[in-house]
Amino acid sequence: MTAYAMTAHWGAHMLATHGGAGHWLSGRWHAPAAFIGLSLALDRLAPGWILQKLRYMLFRISERFYEWRFGIVSDAEILIDALGITDAACHDYLATGYLRFRQVMKLIAIRDGRDVFLDFGSGMGRAVVLAATYPFDKVIGVEIAPSLHALATENVRRALKKLRCRDIELHNVDARAFAIPPEVTVIYMWNPFAGDILNAVLANIQRSLAESPRALTILHLSPENPTNLDVIADRFPWLNEFKRVRLGAHSLAVIYTCGAVAALAV
Ligand SMILES: C[S@@+](CC[C@H](N)C(=O)[O-])C[C@H]1O[C@@H](n2cnc3c(N)ncnc32)[C@H](O)[C@@H]1O
Repeated sequence: MTAYAMTAHWGAHMLATHGGAGHWLSGRWHAPAAFIGLSLALDRLAPGWILQKLRYMLFRISERFYEWRFGIVSDAEILIDALGITDAACHDYLATGYLRFRQVMKLIAIRDGRDVFLDFGSGMGRAVVLAATYPFDKVIGVEIAPSLHALATENVRRALKKLRCRDIELHNVDARAFAIPPEVTVIYMWNPFAGDILNAVLANIQRSLAESPRALTILHLSPENPTNLDVIADRFPWLNEFKRVRLGAHSLAVIYTCGAVAALAV
């Protein structure tokens, strides 16, 4: 069985066996105060193996709960080469944690019906689905792996009734080849790629900003400090670092605001 077939088979099986439970639910996504409160309380306590285990259990429970709540299947870790992609600059699939996504979105202001969200490396579509619970005018996902794109399409179809924004576009293409639409104002990247690919995508963002000057926010999430974006950021002086926030013990979010100064040659 090819990597594509294996992933598609796994996804179809998971959707059939676990994915439908939340269908009868309607309305928007609310993280129950209990999850958020417990998670924050645990974060404040001194680290220790018991607390780490408790934190992990809470994380697993929240993952299962929201998969059920949205009726989607996106909870997996898949090596990128198992998907037939051999470029080492392309990173593996791992969804943004549900609570983590909410934590990160609190860091930015969304203008009701006026912002457009783009997820580079949208995988099985979890961040796309979650972004669509916010008042974005449109949500776009760009994913290189055909099997992940197919699962994202199915996940969006399943979650659609529960979403606030229903204008959702998914593109199965290498991020480098994606022409960024002029209406995009929020770009999300959870560690999708590094090196030449990140460089090319930032050059595309610059091009888009130069052609259609506008305020744009980039949310870059990464497990490392310095991040892959830190390594090349000095090539893009129009990237203004607005905030750097630690996310748990192992990752961080860096928020960049970019404006009219983008009309520079790369
Ligand atoms: C860490 S996952 C993030 C998944 C999703 N954004 C989320 O938050 O749930 C990174 C994703 O980037 C995708 N990716 C890697 N290189 C890519 C490229 N050149 N173009 C588009 N997607 C890419 C991978 O296939 C993977 O699905």
